[in-house]
Amino acid sequence: MTRIAVFISGRGSNFMALHENIKKGIIKDAEISVVFSNKEDAKGLDYAKKENIEVIVIPSKDYNNRQEYDKKIVEALKPYNIDLICLAGYMRIVTHELIKAYENKIINIHPALLPSFKGLHAQKQALEYGVKYSGCTVHFVDDGMDSGAIILQKIVEVYDDDTEDTLSERILKQEHIAYSEAVSLITSGKVVINGRKVSIKG
Ligand code: GRF
Repeated sequence: MTRIAVFISGRGSNFMALHENIKKGIIKDAEISVVFSNKEDAKGLDYAKKENIEVIVIPSKDYNNRQEYDKKIVEALKPYNIDLICLAGYMRIVTHELIKAYENKIINIHPALLPSFKGLHAQKQALEYGVKYSGCTVHFVDDGMDSGAIILQKIVEVYDDDTEDTLSERILKQEHIAYSEAVSLITSGKVVINGRKVSIKG
């Protein structure tokens, strides 16, 4: 059984999709053992409570030092024996404190085809650049921003009349599929990391 911690800061639709797919058996041998949020009012926490998933909230606004903050998270997670951390709309850059404690065990979903359009407002960046295709990327988290080894990507066509909202909505649908696929590959032991490259067994 893979014990997952999902980190959120807001809406939490990727977290919910992961949880629903675990419940449906689409993601096997996994459970979301805890949801972590840096914001007390993150919308996704309501769903966690409704589904009786344990919640940890450590308000990041109380901390000036990122390392100190991530040390607190490592401490708080210890009792849960977490095998995999899924960042899902977690709006903080994680520091080496967390990365060294969970080496190759932290993944993230980004709403663009990395390495294009890193950082915030990736869908807006893609529209403004004029790309014809964008999408989403599930990747391991390393010390850089949106720079870790790529596990999988899904492509979404960009239409001439797209707005940030319409493109974001189409990408989000693919995010929900991609994140569950990536977690399944990891929980079934099919993901092999070799430096920057990830290969999928079988
Ligand atoms: C998603 O677009 C994700 O790719 C990005 O932030 C958004 C979070 O959405 N990192 P949600 O909270 O999962 O609904």
